Amino acid sequence: MINLKEKKHLYPVTTSVSKEGYLYIGGCSAVELRNKFGTPLYIIDEETLTRNIKKYLSAFKQNYTNFLLLYAAKAFANSAIFQLVNKLDLGLDVVSGGELHLALKSGFNKEKIYFHGNNKQISEIELAIEANIGKIVCDNLYELDLIQKLSKKYNKTTNILIRLTPGIECHTHEYIKTGHLNSKFGLDLEYFKEVLNYIQTKGKNIALCGIHSHIGSQIFEIKPYLDTIEILLNEFNYAKKDFKIELNELNIGGGIGIAYTKEDDPFSIEEFVQKVTSKIKTTCKSLGLKLPLLVCEPGRSLISNAGITIYTVGSIKTIPGGIKYITVDGGMADNPRPITYQAKYTACIGNKMNATKSEKITIAGRYCESGDILIKDITLPKIETGDLLVVLNTGAYNYSMSSNYNMVPRPACVLVKDGNAEIIIERETYDDVIRKHKMLKRLTN
Ligand code: LLP
Repeated sequence: MINLKEKKHLYPVTTSVSKEGYLYIGGCSAVELRNKFGTPLYIIDEETLTRNIKKYLSAFKQNYTNFLLLYAAKAFANSAIFQLVNKLDLGLDVVSGGELHLALKSGFNKEKIYFHGNNKQISEIELAIEANIGKIVCDNLYELDLIQKLSKKYNKTTNILIRLTPGIECHTHEYIKTGHLNSKFGLDLEYFKEVLNYIQTKGKNIALCGIHSHIGSQIFEIKPYLDTIEILLNEFNYAKKDFKIELNELNIGGGIGIAYTKEDDPFSIEEFVQKVTSKIKTTCKSLGLKLPLLVCEPGRSLISNAGITIYTVGSIKTIPGGIKYITVDGGMADNPRPITYQAKYTACIGNKMNATKSEKITIAGRYCESGDILIKDITLPKIETGDLLVVLNTGAYNYSMSSNYNMVPRPACVLVKDGNAEIIIERETYDDVIRKHKMLKRLTN
């Protein structure tokens, strides 16, 4: 019998199990969702997303009045999700012209859009300036100059934050660290003086509002954030004292870690917000600074546990004396995180939730790649072909990093709430996958 209580935080908050042992999310049976929409299928539970957002908002409200919460679109960029997030008055962190385009098409409040990226293209910056979005988060000196020139061309003043690299190490996967020295993101603190000089002498069409820093993703310690805050507020002080430039916005990025397995033990949002805001207050007090607007831009901790992916089990193979492979109808193209970061996931069998766990298996994907293993060595009830395999916590960085590897169409995504399921991304067809391909006329009869 699966003890949902023990593992509850890994599941969407609306999870329940019926007498026959069927998994329900958002009031919808996973088995019925499969019958209606097919597999693989991404499912997002609206209630979990909303609750995660409200947890942040209420923690901030209790501790700090002047704050703005952004949703990091890269975790899962989708027009319906943007609508929900916009309705809750969040801002949006976009990182490309594509994400910005989707945000604008979805009617997102432009003033609350922040545009990130370490090599924004001229056309992307122009799109941001023309659309009058909230702020551009400037990554480097080349871009600073570019933003100035393009703002001048449009006869506008662009609000920016400058992204600084605080030189902070945090313990997470090498590929998702960003705040350390030698990072490809942001400007080393040494160059901040040049930024301030530029703003005073040449940056007539730029308003420098504050500093941004994002130290990495899936972070399990609060201390690196506190150290970052201290470093950045010292830069606020430097700008004020040496350049008479008053900065009033501190963006501490995202990166708050979540539990993918029961071994993961992340800090709580409440504790994070309490410690971060208290550090800002004490540091500002000791430096004689005004409290800045505090911006925080999580992605994963807002949407990851709202998402599950359901698959149908196909072939089952036991290597004599060795591994038992359960193969599903998806894999690395709909969830590239295990093969990219050796990410660990938890799974259950959506049609056998009450069965006793009895065998250790490895869940393999369908793609032509030996590394296409979704979960290694997991103990689950006995699985048969046709069972419904459910991988938990797939709301973040799954669809957004998916591909058409092996020319497999991407799965559909449904949003569930109160027993209703709405398609928010349609399943791709073979023709969708090949629609940009061109035949050679000279070889076509
Ligand atoms: N802000 C900035 C500037 C970022 O670069 C990121 C993530 C975030 C916010 C949101 O971070 P979050 O709260 O979601 O951790 N594909 C990787 C994660 C890459 C994160 C990139 N930046 C993964 O699947 O783990």
